[in-house]
Amino acid sequence: MVQLSTSVGLLGGLLGLFLLPPVQMAQTPASMCTPLKTLNDSLSHRRRYMKHNFPINYTIRVHHNEVFRLSNISRMRLQVEGLDELVLQRLWFQVNQGILKKIIRVMPLRHPSRPYTAELERRFRDAEGVFVQAYPAEMFQQELPDTIQETWDHLTEEPDRVPESSWRFASPKSLLDNFCHTMHCLFSECFASTEAQQDYCGVSYSRKGRKKDLQPKS
Ligand SMILES: *[C@@H]1O[C@H](CO)[C@@H](O)[C@H](O)[C@H]1NC(C)=O
Ligand SMILES: *[C@@H]1O[C@H](CO)[C@@H](O)[C@H](O)[C@H]1NC(C)=O
Ligand SMILES: *[C@@H]1O[C@H](CO)[C@@H](O)[C@H](O)[C@H]1NC(C)=O
Repeated sequence: MVQLSTSVGLLGGLLGLFLLPPVQMAQTPASMCTPLKTLNDSLSHRRRYMKHNFPINYTIRVHHNEVFRLSNISRMRLQVEGLDELVLQRLWFQVNQGILKKIIRVMPLRHPSRPYTAELERRFRDAEGVFVQAYPAEMFQQELPDTIQETWDHLTEEPDRVPESSWRFASPKSLLDNFCHTMHCLFSECFASTEAQQDYCGVSYSRKGRKKDLQPKS
């Protein structure tokens, strides 16, 4: 009896193993596209609210890992073999959550860009909520590749423990430019135009896209 249930349990466990979703192939769920497009609408006004309403050359202090550009994405994809898109998407949410918080923190209550930024943050949170709902919880508990985990740890470090050399100064506009460009790259299924198949991940990624050339012939 005991043995039977053990083997049933074992079989169940094995089945579970095979039933795990094919992580690597994870596509952006369609439900993500509505909140991301809403976010995209907000971001289209970023020049006005993140540049014109700030002093010339105004910068804020961010962790160097919060400078998250297209070039970072292509570098990570080259560094980590078989890197799951979901991991990059999680990182994108983590980075930009911190950036929005930092931008809001420097704005006085009556700053003319405050309502804009608050709405941007609200829309970002909506998108994050849909993102978290779209996958089973286990997907978010998966171990991250070492280099990504390292970045993650830096992003969540107590600010007073961050060494001086890790800080960078960046303008709010440039941070939101990165925010927007990397969103188009990482969630390209939501932004692909049918006419010109634009490669949102940019030149450096399209070079990597010709993966055939890099792989050993089989
Ligand atoms: C995203 O916003 C840009 C303007 O910044 C606009 O041209 C583009 O059509 C928008 N994309 C989608 C899918 O809404
Ligand atoms: C802003 O930065 C540019 C380039 O670094 C510099 O030429 C310009 O003088 C700066 N403007 C002000 C008002 O500090
Ligand atoms: C992106 O690359 C820059 C160097 O170009 C680096 O300082 C930064 O930490 C990288 N960001 C992430 C998230 O890895």
